[in-house]
Amino acid sequence: MLILGIDTSCDDTSASVVRGGKEILSDIVSSQDRIHKKYGGIVPELASRRHIEMIWPVVNEALLEARITSTDIAAIAVCHGPGLIGSLLVGCSFAKALCYAHRIPLVAVNHLEGHIFSCFLESRVDEVSPLISRGSPEFPFLSLIVSGGHTSLYRVDRFGKYKELGRTRDDAAGEAFDKVSKLLGLGYPGGPIIERYAHEGNPKAVEFPRAYLPENLDFSFSGLKTAVSNYLRKEVHISLPDICAGFQQAVVDVLVKKTEWALRRERMKRVVLAGGVAANSALRGRFLLLAAERSLEVWIPPRPLCTDNAAMIAAAGYHHFRDGETSDMELNPKAYLPL
Ligand code: KG4
Ligand code: ZN
Repeated sequence: MLILGIDTSCDDTSASVVRGGKEILSDIVSSQDRIHKKYGGIVPELASRRHIEMIWPVVNEALLEARITSTDIAAIAVCHGPGLIGSLLVGCSFAKALCYAHRIPLVAVNHLEGHIFSCFLESRVDEVSPLISRGSPEFPFLSLIVSGGHTSLYRVDRFGKYKELGRTRDDAAGEAFDKVSKLLGLGYPGGPIIERYAHEGNPKAVEFPRAYLPENLDFSFSGLKTAVSNYLRKEVHISLPDICAGFQQAVVDVLVKKTEWALRRERMKRVVLAGGVAANSALRGRFLLLAAERSLEVWIPPRPLCTDNAAMIAAAGYHHFRDGETSDMELNPKAYLPL
């Protein structure tokens, strides 16, 4: 069964064809980084306009690369939130038009559900680590979603049954990377740039605070961002690599510690790391260490499937479609859409 996935939730226009919820036949992502770079963050109006320009070429390329036409598609899965409303509207309107014109069923997918199900996809660019589990995880499992818009821990009991155990009370981890990068004048998106600098720095040279918020599984990263800003105002001689390494270490420490707490509380041995920040080498490394120390099964998607992509939307959409969950033409995107 072939599903065409579409994601325009934020600043990437993406379309993908996935067979059987697992096998990626194509996964096209048109990045808008070049457009938003000079503003140090996403400008929603520019994002929507670019989606309008790119949606058809991207969908067309996804079909061509998969060597199929729209008549071969069983359903179109589209991300209907959470995200930027103008961006979501482009993907949803386009998917509805295509479904209507070709009489194809429409399936609505929550973006966070997509991130969780990215680990069900078979990838051609798998990282060679015996510590990363292969194949689909068995239920139940724990999922840490760390992206530019979200930082949450979920208990996943089965497809469609998610319990949020904790979430960020202010900035998402990726947002903290982006804001600190802007403070340091390093550019957007901040995550990969900070990771590059951090590689050359000493994570112990600058001790930034960790908000562990004892007794619960929520996160907070705005204090860390302020601490970096205060440090920059106070210090005369700064080392960019040391600041980046210290900041990255503080974020990773909190994410790993909270995941450990959640695993213990829920008596779980399986964990899935997902979202753009999961592309971070330091975080991936610490998760693998955790797996080795605590005999856990850990799933971490290859980097291109951590950041936003439509293959994950098609993977989650496959399960909805198989369960008979389709949408009609009334489908409207929502900027705020809890799982
Ligand atoms: O999942 P995603 O592509 O979009 C959202 O759903 O938000 O995540 C984007 C976020 C950005 O904040 C970006 O800076 C961060 O993921 N990111 C990283 C890395 N690559 C992307 N953060 C840390 N290290 C990275 N290598
Ligand atoms: Zn995302």
